[in-house]
Amino acid sequence: MDRDLISRLTRADHSVNSPLDDESVRRLLRRTVDRGGERVLDLGCGEAAWLLRTLTTHPDVTAEGVDTSAPALARARKEATGLGVGERLVLHHQDAAEFASPQPFDAVLSVGAAHAFGGLLPTLDAARRHLAPGGRVLVGDAYWEREPSTAAREILGEYEDLATTVDRVVAHGWTPVFGHLSTRQELDDFEWRWTGSVATWALDHPEHPDSAEALEVATTHRSQWLHGYRDSFGFITLVLRRTSE
Ligand SMILES: C[S@@+](CC[C@H](N)C(=O)[O-])C[C@H]1O[C@@H](n2cnc3c(N)ncnc32)[C@H](O)[C@@H]1O
Repeated sequence: MDRDLISRLTRADHSVNSPLDDESVRRLLRRTVDRGGERVLDLGCGEAAWLLRTLTTHPDVTAEGVDTSAPALARARKEATGLGVGERLVLHHQDAAEFASPQPFDAVLSVGAAHAFGGLLPTLDAARRHLAPGGRVLVGDAYWEREPSTAAREILGEYEDLATTVDRVVAHGWTPVFGHLSTRQELDDFEWRWTGSVATWALDHPEHPDSAEALEVATTHRSQWLHGYRDSFGFITLVLRRTSE
């Protein structure tokens, strides 16, 4: 079935595509973009929800986003134009791991896109290549809240527990200056939003050729979540600075 249909359904409310509510996004951005006139980069920006919030809050900020999804970038462009911030946003349709820019950025964001780089630490290495001295990195990735079942590992891959995740970031040369652990409500809302919007569309469009498959996708995802990883999945978002430049 058309995978973009799922993204369109699940992103209709323009929330970030990660388990964080609007207030958490606002608090994290306030500690990341706080000096005025910054250049901000988002690696794996999706529909650029983080950048659009930044641009609408800070009229002096300019931003660039990188993503491999052309439909997501097209929606980001349309939304930016509608919000009147389109002239301050550049979007790149390419692999974020291969993105190069002649100028560094004051803030580099990458939330929920660590798989594009092969994990959290390689994501930080990529962010560092783009970061101006004194810059901030905002990175979000999964961790194990509890020992995962075999099924959880099969569905989500390999992560560490919370303390080990942060220890590894620190040992890699970064200092957390703020952080947020997604709450049970944020984690559950994310899954209900995703499965609920796809299921609602399927039930409302029984005549559509993708309807039965969409309902099956929603059902399988909900079952994997509830039976497989709900108890073990955690999500951490960190605001980081280099420990020494
Ligand atoms: C879970 S979404 C997160 C989007 C956004 N950071 C947010 O929080 O709203 C992950 C995004 O990473 C993008 N992505 C996956 N692999 C990528 C790659 N190699 N280069 C760039 N983007 C990639 C996907 O297209 C998707 O938009």
